[in-house]
Amino acid sequence: MHAKSIRVGMAGCGTVGCGVGDLLIRDHDALAARTGLDIRLVRVAIRDVCKSRAPHVPDAIITGDLATLNRADVDLVVELIGGTTVARQVVLSAIAAGKDVVTANKALLALHGPEIYAAARAAGVGVLFEGSVCGGLPVIGGVLRGLIANRIDAFEGILNGTCNYVLTEMLVAGKSFADALADAQRLGYAEADPALDINGTDTAHKLAVLATLAFGVHADFATIPVEGITRIGLVDLLAGHELGFACKLLAVGRMTEDGPALYVRPTFLTREHPFVGVDGRGNAVSFYGHSVGHVMFKGMGAGGGPTASAVVSDVVEIALGNGRRTFTQLPMFDTAAATRQAAMRPTAPARFYVRCAARGGAAAVSGIADGLRGAGVAVQEARPFTHPAVAAEGTYVILLTAPTMESTMRAAIDGMQKGGAATEAPVYLPVTDPFVSSNP
Ligand SMILES: NC(=O)c1ccc[n+]([C@@H]2O[C@H](COP(=O)([O-])OP(=O)(O)OC[C@H]3O[C@@H](n4cnc5c(N)ncnc54)[C@H](OP(=O)(O)O)[C@@H]3O)[C@@H](O)[C@H]2O)c1
Repeated sequence: MHAKSIRVGMAGCGTVGCGVGDLLIRDHDALAARTGLDIRLVRVAIRDVCKSRAPHVPDAIITGDLATLNRADVDLVVELIGGTTVARQVVLSAIAAGKDVVTANKALLALHGPEIYAAARAAGVGVLFEGSVCGGLPVIGGVLRGLIANRIDAFEGILNGTCNYVLTEMLVAGKSFADALADAQRLGYAEADPALDINGTDTAHKLAVLATLAFGVHADFATIPVEGITRIGLVDLLAGHELGFACKLLAVGRMTEDGPALYVRPTFLTREHPFVGVDGRGNAVSFYGHSVGHVMFKGMGAGGGPTASAVVSDVVEIALGNGRRTFTQLPMFDTAAATRQAAMRPTAPARFYVRCAARGGAAAVSGIADGLRGAGVAVQEARPFTHPAVAAEGTYVILLTAPTMESTMRAAIDGMQKGGAATEAPVYLPVTDPFVSSNP
């Protein structure tokens, strides 16, 4: 005898939706034994009703009519369509019909979170989104429940498995960027159009979601500085490796005296950094709380199975009665009270790695270093760099700077290009040590 029955309607039955179908139908009895809940998937709305679905999702519950999710025989709507147009309508109309909502759609939350949270709170229903950041890793619940006693000073993450896979494969297997990305697509890690992965946008969507949880702010998405991995060459990874650095696409949130600094950029990690070794499709997120110190989540983030695991945990949380209560109680989802804020660029100085293709090859090293020094950048190391794997590209000059303000660095790089010292736009990225928590 189950304590409570709940009827789920689901929009979308693709990679994640099929996984949810498996967990709710194939594993129904095991889930009931574990939770004391009778969770029934009663309707699945998709676009193409002729497409074959997960073997466990019966044809009888499939429909092409999204509006039927709002009928009285559905208690809770799971949105797994993706995108920000139809998905927004599905979520807002479910809320208007008095349904709790579960979504894994980070783009929707990053761009329309305040609108959705306000509508849900006005309707007295919950919106849960554990699957939106790092798939199966319990990051959202970890922060909202496990770390709620803390003032979060900072967080950082490797949040996109495709980028991490590409960077790892380039270095480990010596592949070009294009070949590593093609492999990620072939293996099903990347989107069919992987632009949102490699240009950093997907990472920034997740960063915006985490900023709401960690800092209670709703970042104006368009103001978040975002740089993807498209300019990183194999030569950078090889040079960094020689210097003892690992390149990762990092999402960073720091609370500063002037507000939150949020940004996404490729970064070299020093050997001591806790993310070193998070390779391939791996994801990781660290939080630095004033009481708990450093806490890190690490594992295979996205994918159908892991993300479905997170989605079903939200469904259970709602069925248990906790999800709606938590969502409607916590002030960070009260968008009237919470700050809607522009994200700031980092203001602390950092060391930088610079790589440029120089006219004159090795002979140009001192000239380029002197040029940077002339622009106010203290250069710690400057040398020519070649490697058999990139021999065809000729000789590069690589430099390491002392801690430098971003604005000074940017001006110096602009000067290098204008002065003709570099034959193409130099690549520069920060070098990051582990964050020092207020309570390490
Ligand atoms: N894939 C992952 O590893 C992962 C991880 C974390 C979060 N997410 C998020 O989870 C969500 C779903 O991702 P996914 O990878 O499962 O996507 P997907 O494989 O592309 O599946 C999308 C589903 O939505 C349906 N759909 C699309 N437009 C529709 C419309 N206008 N009306 C009705 N149905 C529509 C599709 O129907 P048809 O099948 O009929 O075309 C399909 O079943 C996204 O927000 C994504 O960002 C995904």
